[in-house]
Amino acid sequence: MAVKGGPADNRTRSTVSICIVIGLCCFFYILGAWQKSGFGKGDSIALEITKRTDCTILPNLSFDTHHSKQGSSRDLVSPVKKFKPCPDRFTDYTPCQDQNRAMKFPRENMNYRERHCPPQKEKLHCLVPPPKGYVAPFPWPKSRDYVPFANCPYKSLTVEKAIQNWVQYEGNVFRFPGGGTQFPQGADKYIDQLASVIPIANGTVRTALDTGCGVASWGAYLLKRNVLAMSFAPRDSHEAQVQFALERGVPAVIGVLGTIKLPYPSRAFDMAHCSRCLIPWGMNDGLYMMEVDRVLRPGGYWVLSGPPINWKANYKGWQRTKEDLEAEQNKIEEMAKLLCWEKVSEKGETAIWRKRVNTESCPSRLEESTVQMCESTNADDVWYEEDEGMCYTSS
Ligand SMILES: *[C@@H]1O[C@H](CO)[C@@H](O)[C@H](O)[C@H]1NC(C)=O
Ligand SMILES: *[C@@H]1O[C@H](CO)[C@@H](O)[C@H](O)[C@H]1NC(C)=O
Repeated sequence: MAVKGGPADNRTRSTVSICIVIGLCCFFYILGAWQKSGFGKGDSIALEITKRTDCTILPNLSFDTHHSKQGSSRDLVSPVKKFKPCPDRFTDYTPCQDQNRAMKFPRENMNYRERHCPPQKEKLHCLVPPPKGYVAPFPWPKSRDYVPFANCPYKSLTVEKAIQNWVQYEGNVFRFPGGGTQFPQGADKYIDQLASVIPIANGTVRTALDTGCGVASWGAYLLKRNVLAMSFAPRDSHEAQVQFALERGVPAVIGVLGTIKLPYPSRAFDMAHCSRCLIPWGMNDGLYMMEVDRVLRPGGYWVLSGPPINWKANYKGWQRTKEDLEAEQNKIEEMAKLLCWEKVSEKGETAIWRKRVNTESCPSRLEESTVQMCESTNADDVWYEEDEGMCYTSS
């Protein structure tokens, strides 16, 4: 007769019970997580996702460079230096965009909103801490629409831009409905409208620049159309809207069109876009339009929506005079001609120009004698280089 419950059998049984215990743990854990999650419960969703983020997927990445001459670079560098966290009040510290330093620079041409980095002796040697309660952002595409409140704890935009559908605060998460000042119906509809003029769908437009991007919903919604948008906006006096864009997983930088060139090579973008971006396009003899012209490739598109386009219908709402708006639009049209851009559409508050593919196809160009482009220095030499204006000839 066989004896039941030998040592081997015992081991099997204990393995089975361990499995059951682990299984039950997992079950209740998931049940708990499921009960806690749900619409508007962003903190628990965020917590879950943080727990699931497995930082050990690639445990042995080698961060050494592989181009040093002798042996491993590990032998050459001194031991890794550890930095302590900065005090909590530095959570939003962006060294080259420090409000106190910015105010010492001229307001003119937005100079004070450009990069002004601290001198050597004012540099902090600590790590900028995340805000209290920071959690890993949601994975894309959920991150396009939700950001945990703790990651960017500023509600002012939800109040300021409430009717424009930029961002809403819903119990510990921010929700981004995809609206903008110029597209309260959502970025998708707005992009559809642009796509009726600009060939966005067939691969002609793959890169875009959004000047004065707000929370970057335009760029966020272009991704599913296979267009990669780079968005920028200046830092506000209190916080950077770009922070929301980054938490959403949308490429963006703090930046401004001011006295120096944009940090992009020439002809890098298929499309540039400004919707109520508050950039004074008509000022300084069109200096900022020239900078857009530099970064647009031949055949690239420039979209301008909002003031002054369609001023006849909107001047009251914008609280500006007809004369002022008309003059601004005239200046823009005139500059566009000089730059050899062709106006391809104006519908409602949206106007679209196209940079001609070459100057031969530019009708008015040769007749213009009083104004011409400067002999360009290296157009790709852009880092901290001043904007280049028009050169006036003495004819
Ligand atoms: C990384 O780990 C994997 C699996 O353990 C191993 O096969 C691989 O050789 C390792 N790579 C390096 C660079 O050490
Ligand atoms: C995309 O569409 C535009 C406008 O219809 C056309 O001019 C262009 O040749 C098309 N490009 C490709 C790659 O199909």
